[in-house]
Amino acid sequence: MTWFIKNCIEMQSVRQQYERFPYPPINALALPRRDQGKALQYERAVELARDKHLPKILPDNHLGIRILVAGCGTLEALVVAQMHPRAKEIVALDLSHRSITRLQRRIHWARSRDMLSLARLRGYRLPAVTTIEADVCEWQDSDGFDYILANNMLHHTEQPAVTLQHLVGMLKPDGVMRIVTYPAMSRFWLRQTSAWLRWHGLNADTPALKKRAVEVIEELPQPHPILSCFEAHSETANTAGLVDAFFHACEKPLSPLLWQQATEAAGLEWLGETQSQYSRAEFLPELMPVTSALPAWQQLQVLDDVLELTSNPVWWFCKRGDVKQVATNNKTIQSEEASAPDSSEFISEITSQQHKEWFLPSEVYWQLGQSLRQADCLLQQVSCCVEDLIETLRHEVGPRVARGGWELLGLTMGEYPTTELLQTQQPILKKSWQQLQAKLGESARIQYQQQSVPGNNLAQQIEWLQLYHGPLDCQIGPLVISK
Ligand SMILES: C[S@@+](CC[C@H](N)C(=O)[O-])C[C@H]1O[C@@H](n2cnc3c(N)ncnc32)[C@H](O)[C@@H]1O
Repeated sequence: MTWFIKNCIEMQSVRQQYERFPYPPINALALPRRDQGKALQYERAVELARDKHLPKILPDNHLGIRILVAGCGTLEALVVAQMHPRAKEIVALDLSHRSITRLQRRIHWARSRDMLSLARLRGYRLPAVTTIEADVCEWQDSDGFDYILANNMLHHTEQPAVTLQHLVGMLKPDGVMRIVTYPAMSRFWLRQTSAWLRWHGLNADTPALKKRAVEVIEELPQPHPILSCFEAHSETANTAGLVDAFFHACEKPLSPLLWQQATEAAGLEWLGETQSQYSRAEFLPELMPVTSALPAWQQLQVLDDVLELTSNPVWWFCKRGDVKQVATNNKTIQSEEASAPDSSEFISEITSQQHKEWFLPSEVYWQLGQSLRQADCLLQQVSCCVEDLIETLRHEVGPRVARGGWELLGLTMGEYPTTELLQTQQPILKKSWQQLQAKLGESARIQYQQQSVPGNNLAQQIEWLQLYHGPLDCQIGPLVISK
């Protein structure tokens, strides 16, 4: 019941966001080029199946097929329609009324453009497009689809694995699915940037959001990975992009191994991936040939754990075999409550020694270390270790580079001391700082280098310190906690 209510609230917030900021944030009058979107073609799946030497299960081309574009936004379904002129029907579904209205308008203009162009004489036409305003999790279709696209939408639903299962239920046997999703751990710095902006009270309703965001980001010392991250993302150019990247109402990325679990449980068979060459599974064996013995999902997991999936994964599947059971494992990478350190000793020590100087483990170091430990477990299966991989990345790949050619410092694992990342202990959690506050009294505050730390209470001050100083050293301090 609690999950149901949470789901409804979250879904409502996602709808509101896309009513305000339809996606993609482009001119409402813009039409796609007629040859735009080859990467979305059904025929890509046919090629991948052929490359995998799968017995012929898919028709050679899209003639007469039904396609669902789930979470279609304002443009994608038109691009898909252009790329599939011989499809029987394209169903374009989205939660947001405004997105659907914009899409309908674009389709109408595209048809008018086609009527007036020579393409019509060559027999080119847009296929039938049915637009539907609905929550995909509640919508059903009984005729089945040959091809479903779920691009950049599953991670915006409360339970991505369950949404996937629901979509696969509408896929015909041997139907094809294309998923684009966020790399879970590789978006680490985006989440830190979001936390920094939110800490300063910024949100989707903030007036002059872009200007305020720049001001807040510039409070950080240089170089700082949050500054680099902000600079690296072209979304920061407008409010809609900023909201999508840093203030999304619901962002639930799953790690590659959880996606493996979810897709297998839904009865999907992996066909391949088509994102940038450097973010595909095979990039790992290119760096370290010994890792070619790991299955593709594990290679992807290692790359994500070391923050190297630099673009959103694009995965293709076909529906084969039996559906095993409903995939409910929706664990996200942020759930660390279960392994929280015992803070009672720390609290009683602070309470009894008020003027001592304290050094606290950096949350960033701890989280990056956790991720490295996970990668190490996988690499050990092929007698390899994560230290070797990081060393290779340092030499072969180096720091990220901005479009202008300059280095964006602090975004890669190789820029941090591996041993210290692996040795950093888990910091005490926010709720322990709240308990400490209750013991020390409302006025208790933290001083850092004899300066007061921003924040209205200990928990807020610690959050600020972790974001501001966290990436700069494995320990934060010296701190004095006074009444
Ligand atoms: C980031 S946009 C991606 C749009 C499009 N797929 C693309 O790649 O251009 C996510 C879209 O998914 C839609 N969406 C999110 N959750 C949904 C749900 N539960 N049911 C239907 N649409 C949903 C949003 O309204 C939004 O238009």
